Amino acid sequence: MSSRANDIRRYREDVSESHALLAHYREVRGVSERLCAPLLAEDCCMQTMPDVSPPKWHLAHVSWFFETFVLKPLLPAYREFHPWFAVLFNSYYEGAGAMHPRAQRGFLSRPPLEQVYDYRRHIDEQMATLFEAAPEAQWRDIAFRTVLGIHHEQQHQELLLTDIKHIFASQPLRPVYKESLLEASTPAPALTWHDFPGGLYEIGHDGEDFCYDNETPRHRVYLEAFRLASRPVTNGEYLEFMAAGGYRHAEYWLSEGWRTVREKKWEAPLYWERDEGGWQYMTLSGMRAVDENEPVCHVGFYEADAYARWAGKRLPSEQEWEIAARDVAVAGNLQDSGRYHPAPARDAGLVQVYGDVWEWTRSPYVSYPGFRPLAGTLGEYNGKFMCSQMVLRGGSCTTPAGHIRSSYRNFFYPADRWQFSGIRLAGDKG
Ligand SMILES: [Fe+2]
Repeated sequence: MSSRANDIRRYREDVSESHALLAHYREVRGVSERLCAPLLAEDCCMQTMPDVSPPKWHLAHVSWFFETFVLKPLLPAYREFHPWFAVLFNSYYEGAGAMHPRAQRGFLSRPPLEQVYDYRRHIDEQMATLFEAAPEAQWRDIAFRTVLGIHHEQQHQELLLTDIKHIFASQPLRPVYKESLLEASTPAPALTWHDFPGGLYEIGHDGEDFCYDNETPRHRVYLEAFRLASRPVTNGEYLEFMAAGGYRHAEYWLSEGWRTVREKKWEAPLYWERDEGGWQYMTLSGMRAVDENEPVCHVGFYEADAYARWAGKRLPSEQEWEIAARDVAVAGNLQDSGRYHPAPARDAGLVQVYGDVWEWTRSPYVSYPGFRPLAGTLGEYNGKFMCSQMVLRGGSCTTPAGHIRSSYRNFFYPADRWQFSGIRLAGDKG
């Protein structure tokens, strides 16, 4: 399933592919609803911090995306489901008109959840109508926008799990989202270093498969020789940093990071709590003792950078990361594994490049040379956020398979910790 969505060239070239694309659309739409199936209607309304969106809002917003960018421009007979939904479920597209404030998504006790599911049915029916009579002259545009909408919905499927974790972790009852029989943990292989020669490289998306505009254009970069750690930093290794006073010594921290540590009184990754038995953390399977063999998760850029400094290393640049990752098969502990939690590394070699935890890089999220955003309002998807955020690479245990690739650029603010984000060290060679 996952690779088909990327095969945008095949879909675009031939209107007879419309049935295949519609089937794929339905498959991805079904995943969003399955992810919400374990939730109560009350869970679906919660917004536990401004960055978290209620699951109900996610379910509606991804439908709004198809309505706004596929159906309204391309299906002349389309009639909107509800006049207010264009405002309530617009996330950040100024070109699409007014929007409900992000931090007030949790105020939306109305519309009820059932009406949001009715909205989804309405959009699905209208998409089928569009596909049944797709005019050949418009097919390329229909296919492109639909594939973009599918990837957008997959992106929100990761956010759904991320936000459900925050919602459940904020709940005194600490609900279990999914019962999970996690295998007995074994020690991660010793960390080794993989050397890459300096020289001129090309990075950025290559080929005809789907990518976001921010991965283009492909361009040359010069890199000094570097080395990359074989696997992400484990909880056990991170505990050594904590035991060495990592959160108490300013010398490990960037100035902004140290200020944040003191203001927010950080002393461990997000979701960690200490009791008589030691460190515990919230998972989507409830509270558990911290497993020292798993990759450390829910650390922000400031913590990743401080850990690297304490360890005498540094974070990789996004260019280094991409060069190291481009020959690694895109597979790993992704959302489709159903684990929804990082797993200990099992093998030696360059491992866990994809899945488990997003890896913070030291690269600010900026445009590539020659970058052109998508035309029109869709150009707001990525380009306008190219300020003050850092790039993460590789996907996590909540990223859908088929939604990650070596050129994929995720981006968050340096203090953000609620994503499944971790640390892979790099170093200078020589
Ligand atoms: Fe969105």
